[in-house]
Formats: sequence, structure tokens, C-alpha cells
Amino acid sequence: METYNYRVVRQFAVMTVVWGIVGMLVGVYIAAQLRWPELNFDIPWLTYSRLRPLHTNAVIFAFGGSALFATSYYVVQRTCHARLFSDRLAGFTFWGWQAVIVLAAITLPLGITSSKEYAELEWPIDLLITVVWVSYAIVFFGTIMKRKVKHIYVANWFYGAFILTVALLHVVNSAALPVTLTKSYSVYPGAIDAMVQWWYGHNAVGFFLTAGFLGMMYYFVPKQAGRPVYSYRLSVVHFWALIAIYMWAGPHHLHYTALPDWAQSLGMVMSLVLLAPSWGGMINGMMTLSGAWHKLRDDPILRFLIVSLSFYGMSTFEGPMMSIKTVNALSHYTDWTIGHVHSGALGWVAMVSVGSLYVLIPQLFGRERMYSIKLIEWHFWTTTIGVVLYIVSMWIAGVMQGLMWRAVNADGTLTYSFTESLVRMYPYYTVRFIGGVLVVFGMFLMAYNVWKTIAAGKAEEAPVPQPA
Ligand code: HEM
Ligand code: HEM
Repeated sequence: METYNYRVVRQFAVMTVVWGIVGMLVGVYIAAQLRWPELNFDIPWLTYSRLRPLHTNAVIFAFGGSALFATSYYVVQRTCHARLFSDRLAGFTFWGWQAVIVLAAITLPLGITSSKEYAELEWPIDLLITVVWVSYAIVFFGTIMKRKVKHIYVANWFYGAFILTVALLHVVNSAALPVTLTKSYSVYPGAIDAMVQWWYGHNAVGFFLTAGFLGMMYYFVPKQAGRPVYSYRLSVVHFWALIAIYMWAGPHHLHYTALPDWAQSLGMVMSLVLLAPSWGGMINGMMTLSGAWHKLRDDPILRFLIVSLSFYGMSTFEGPMMSIKTVNALSHYTDWTIGHVHSGALGWVAMVSVGSLYVLIPQLFGRERMYSIKLIEWHFWTTTIGVVLYIVSMWIAGVMQGLMWRAVNADGTLTYSFTESLVRMYPYYTVRFIGGVLVVFGMFLMAYNVWKTIAAGKAEEAPVPQPA
């Protein structure tokens, strides 16, 4: 009897929880350092500058990446009625990806970096990422090719776009001339380098942190709600609109720089347009619950999923506003950006992943549901309160910074020194730290719940349905 390959899904699912805790703990530690700088103990590899990229890599690629591998491998098999194209290659993607993460965790604290944000890893690791990613593409698209269901479910479109685009972004942005094993220089000069970097950076947001997670949303929201997707047509329209528009919005990261003015304006306009397909996705997800809203009352998993969509809607409203040049003149360089990032990254990405894992994990271990629903409830509230504390404190801090930096006296001198603005931030940095602690506490509850579920369960493979 042919079965689904759940082994690799289980591996990635468990590592999602592990890397979530590690990455967020580093986030809490650097949040504490911003409030109490002496916490680096004058040890080079504990300094903020080295741990910040460790945080971003750990949460985006280790935690987010593992969640995407786990769910995409599960969803593609279930919706195609086919076992993964190659067990061996799928196993390789697991071990290869973990190796990338471990190498990142060693090199970044040592100060080995290409200094390109979200692409800091040096060239030998970039090569390994490429090999793993190509294998991933082969496994994923190979499974689509051998599907026994004619139709390709929409979640797979999003996962597929994510896999293809990330391959393109990674290869183009990482092009570099190596000088030693641990040092290379980008092949692009000056402003072109900046443009390529933010074409990469913004699309990393659009495809790594958005398209893949929309794939997750399109499978797990209908599943948990027990209802079909609200509008299949809307899902197709917003898919094509989203992938067509994201590509052009990158220059909003480079307002008021050496980049030609027309490119900045193009980035701004495309970012404003991007509101429409983003909200198309959010509305489609939320409305899937129409007629079943009462389920939110006693299902904390569904609440995780729906609240994540609200944060998605919020950050994709805020982003277009921040891309308006006059707004960006205030928000850029401030904590407003950090608040925006975490309403997307924590509110949307982390919450949709956590919700999906709570649906997925019992399935993988032959259980009907998670060990404790009460603990999921607790996790939901600690995370929601933590995220709100994080983003609200950063909004206030950001707007205050922007206003203080631009305030001038009648004689043209600055009203506030930079240090004055920094000192005023301390209360907000304390609130952000508390928010982070709450979020991490929730992750520990999840780890315990997952552990108990696995301990009571059994790793089972489900049979692939055979065509009649
Ligand atoms: C406990 C939860 C978290 C805490 C306490 C936390 C804390 C932080 C801190 C202190 C920074 C540096 C801010 C600065 O430079 O001023 C940061 C940056 C960042 N974090 Fe988090 N973080 C958390 C979770 C996450 C998650 C889950 C993700 C993604 C899935 C994420 C993605 C990012 C990104 C992309 C940046 C860089 C932002 C930028 O350069 O504008 N964080 N985080
Ligand atoms: C319609 C959708 C969105 C638009 C138009 C948008 C726009 C923007 C703008 C204008 C900035 C500030 C650039 C700057 O001043 O440097 C920004 C920063 C950022 N956004 Fe968004 N955003 C959107 C959605 C999202 C979502 C959903 C996420 C996360 C899941 C996200 C993650 C980020 C990150 C990580 C940064 C910081 C980049 C950096 O400087 O390191 N964005 N976004």
C-alpha cells in the first residue's frame, strides 16, 4: 500500500518549534540589549551587531523556513494524492537546511557576513542553499507532476511561486566574487548593488514571508474551519495580481537615496497598488469563516489563524502608507519600521505557522487533537498580548523619534540631540521586551504541548487514496 511521506514533514514540523524558540529568544535578548546595553558583557560575539542578523536569519529561515518546508510537503501530497517525488531528496533537503542553519549560527556571531540584509551568509553557505533549494523544487514540482488529481489546488500555486521566486532572488542577489573562504564582494557596484539588494529584500518579504504563508493559509484555514475557501475565483485573481506587483515595489526601501527618482516613485506607486491583492487574500481567508464565526468562540487554533490574517491585513495597509515618500521621510530609520516588520513577522507569519502546526502535528502522530486545548488557549493569549505590546510600543517610539529628529529651533539648530531621543525610548524598549518575553513564554507552552502529544502518539503514515 502506498503511503504519504510524513517522516520529513514530522522532522521539519518539530524543528519549526525548536528554531522558533531559539530565534525568538535571541530576539528577546537583543531587545533587552537595546534597553540595557551592558548585557553584551563586552564579548564580541554577544554584541548586538552580530546577534541581530542571527535573530533575523533564525526566525525567517530556520523557523519560517522549516514551517514552510513542513506544510508544503504535507499539503502538496494531500492535495495531489501522491507520495513525495523522492524520499531521498526530501530527506536531503531536511538535513541540508539544518546544516545551513547551523552554519549561520556559527558564522554570524563570529562576524562573518556579506553585510547584505537577510542575505548575510557567505558564499560557501550560499552555494549549499542553492543545492538544497534546487532539490526542494525538484521534490515539490515532481510531486505536482505525478499527482493523481487533475486540479492543482490553489495552496500549491502559492507554494510553487514561493519556491521559484526565492531561487531567482537568491541566485541573483548572492552573485559575488570570493576572495577567501569567508569573504566575498558583491559583483554589483554602488547604487545597482543597493537596488538588487532591495529587489531581493522586498521580494523576500513578498515571497518568503507572504506567498508561502498564504499557501499555508489556503490549506489550513478551510481545513480547521471545516468550510471551503470563500471564493476560488478571488484566490486566482489575487494570486496573479500579487506576484505581478510585488516585483516592482522594492525601491520603497531606498527613498531619498542615490537611486534615480523615477525608480523611487515607481516603487511607491506599485506599493500602493499592492494593497488590493494583499487585502484580496486577507478577505478571502477571513470570509472562509462566513456562517461559521461561532467556531472562533471555542477554537483557539482557528483564532490563531484568523488573528494572523488580521495582522496580515494591518501590515499590508501600513506598508503602502509607509511607502509614500512624505510618510517615509518620517518613518525611515525609526522604530516604526520595526513595529511594521513585527506586525507582519510575528502577527502574521508566526501566528499562521503556529495555528497550522497545531492542526498538523496531531495528524502526523496519529492523534485526533493536541494534548491540551487549554494550553493552546494560553498560547493564543500570551502571543496576542505580546505582539500588541511589541507593535504599539514601536509605533509610539517610531513616531516620537521621527518628530524629535526633525524638530528645529528658530535659529535652525536641532531641538533635540540624538542621545535625548534615545533616552526617551527606554520605556518603550522595556514594553517591547515584556511583549517579547510573553511571546517566547507561549512558545515554551507550545513545545510542552507538542512533546506531550508526540509522547502519547505514534508516528503513522497515512495511505494515499487510490483512483477508483
Ligand atoms: C519574541 C519575539 C521577537 C522579538 C522580541 C524580536 C525582537 C527584535 C529586535 C529587538 C529586533 C531589532 C530591532 C532594531 O534593530 O531596532 C528585531 C529585528 C527583526 N526581527 Fe524580530 N523579534 C521577534 C520575533 C520575530 C519573528 C518571529 C520574526 C520573523 C518571522 C522577526 C523578524 C525580524 C526582522 C525581519 C527584523 C529586522 C527588521 C529591520 O531590519 O527593519 N522577529 N527583532
Ligand atoms: C502591501 C504590502 C507591504 C508593503 C507595500 C510594505 C512596505 C514597506 C515599507 C515602505 C517599508 C519601509 C522601508 C524603509 O523605510 O526602509 C517596509 C519595511 C519592511 N517590511 Fe513591509 N510592506 C508590506 C508588507 C509586509 C509584510 C506582510 C511583511 C512581513 C511579513 C513586511 C516586512 C517588512 C520588513 C522585514 C521590512 C524591513 C526591511 C528592512 O529595512 O530591513 N512587510 N515595508
